[in-house]
Amino acid sequence: MILYFTGTGNSEYVADRVGRGTGQEVRPLMERIRDKDCSEIKSDDPWIVCAPTYGWQLPHLLRDWLKQARLSGSNIIYFVMTCGGEIGNAPKYNRRLAAEMKMEYMGTAEILMPENYIAMYDAPEEDEARQIIKQAEPAIDEVIEIIKEGGIIEPPSPGLTGKIKSSIVNPAYYPLLVNSKKFYAKDSCTGCGLCEKLCPMESISMKDGRPVWNGKCTHCMACICHCPEEAIEYGKISEGKPRYKCPVK
Ligand SMILES: Cc1cc2nc3c(=O)[nH]c(=O)nc-3n(C[C@H](O)[C@H](O)[C@H](O)COP(=O)(O)O)c2cc1C
Repeated sequence: MILYFTGTGNSEYVADRVGRGTGQEVRPLMERIRDKDCSEIKSDDPWIVCAPTYGWQLPHLLRDWLKQARLSGSNIIYFVMTCGGEIGNAPKYNRRLAAEMKMEYMGTAEILMPENYIAMYDAPEEDEARQIIKQAEPAIDEVIEIIKEGGIIEPPSPGLTGKIKSSIVNPAYYPLLVNSKKFYAKDSCTGCGLCEKLCPMESISMKDGRPVWNGKCTHCMACICHCPEEAIEYGKISEGKPRYKCPVK
């Protein structure tokens, strides 16, 4: 069974592709994570966790949910991580997570997809994003074949910088930068409430027809990138930048 988390659709796209290729069921986790719902999910097929890379590791909110979740049936687990550049040494932490979950670790795949982190970098325009996704297709096919054969996914070597990013930068980056302080809605906000609905951390509530953020945030970019009016900004950093949503289904 494929379990996925996504902010802007890349990991959903890859999860769906892997689902089609392996014939396995695909389930989103955003609502379960938001509702802190760790109730039993059963599957006799291997668990395949598909998610973006945040700070060269799995998103912490997903990792923490997986530690609590009751996944019964199969006890083997794969990780498929989408990223805008590299997953660093994330496989080391996924192996550790699998052990905590009492699962057999079957490896971590790195799938290079368009960058979505507009609170820090630039996201590509749609044409370029489509090109990047096209280039990712062989890597997705390879993952499908390995899973179908029950093989082990060998991750790329992280190198020294990858190790440093995952082990030293990641734990510093979360408390320093990952919060909602800089998010605000402009006058063009229509109060549609989509941002509130999409937030996986229940950080957003509507007050006087405008979203307000309560501080908790995982920087998934769902609110800012899915806003139909592009009315949400992240301080000055996001001004004028294209919003990113995975352009293929
Ligand atoms: C908070 C945050 C942190 C990120 N950190 C990394 C990173 O460490 N390495 C990387 O290559 N891409 C990083 N990215 C880019 C995303 O992992 C990448 O665009 C991913 O495919 C987005 O998936 P999604 O559309 O399913 O949310 C980050 C994006 C966000 C929003």
